[in-house]
Amino acid sequence: MTLETGRLLLRAFEPGDVDAVHDACQDEDIQFYTPVPVPFGRQDAEKMVREGREGWAADKDYVLGAFRKDTVALVGSYCLTKVSAGVYELGYWAVKDQRGQGYSAEAARALCDWGWATLDVHRIEWWAMAGNTGSRAVAERLGFTVEGTLRNRGIANDGKPHDWWVGGLVRA
Ligand SMILES: CC(C)(COP(=O)(O)OP(=O)(O)OC[C@H]1O[C@@H](n2cnc3c(N)ncnc32)[C@H](O)[C@@H]1OP(=O)(O)O)[C@@H](O)C(=O)NCCC(=O)NCCS
Repeated sequence: MTLETGRLLLRAFEPGDVDAVHDACQDEDIQFYTPVPVPFGRQDAEKMVREGREGWAADKDYVLGAFRKDTVALVGSYCLTKVSAGVYELGYWAVKDQRGQGYSAEAARALCDWGWATLDVHRIEWWAMAGNTGSRAVAERLGFTVEGTLRNRGIANDGKPHDWWVGGLVRA
């Protein structure tokens, strides 16, 4: 399955993407704000690529790598994960040196549009650690309503509980 936007090609990760995924996930923000293992080794990148492909095969989790059409560089990872009947969670991370160019909003919008058109879904959720203004900006750009702050909702890689923001998009 591939999706195309004005500037990006989105496709399932392939074994040849392991190095790019490994390099991207050395970023301290990805390691703090997303549940990747820390430290993030080459085996973790191989596992991420493998599990991404298994998610598609199981028709459950839909992870796409986004790649620039002009340079074919990896831009980031964008995922819809089934939470419960009709509810999917949107997750993403972007390669540090590709940020700030609107790529994540472009890729995540394409994935959500595909989800609305293809999946039996009535709600797409977004969760982020409170204070992750970049993630929130992307979600709000996509039209998500931030619905609340859950106190001490999760433990981050610093081993401490943090508040979490939750938002949603619902089928109109
Ligand atoms: C969050 C993240 C994916 C944003 O990626 P990005 O490619 O830079 O986002 P975009 O360029 O598409 O930005 C979309 C909008 O968000 C805004 N934005 C992006 N990062 C921002 C930041 N750190 N602070 C404030 N606004 C930000 C952009 O200005 C843009 O707004 P606009 O459309 O009004 O101009 C990226 O910073 C990242 O990977 N962070 C670490 C991992 C992470 O936190 N993932 C989410 C876990 S919930």
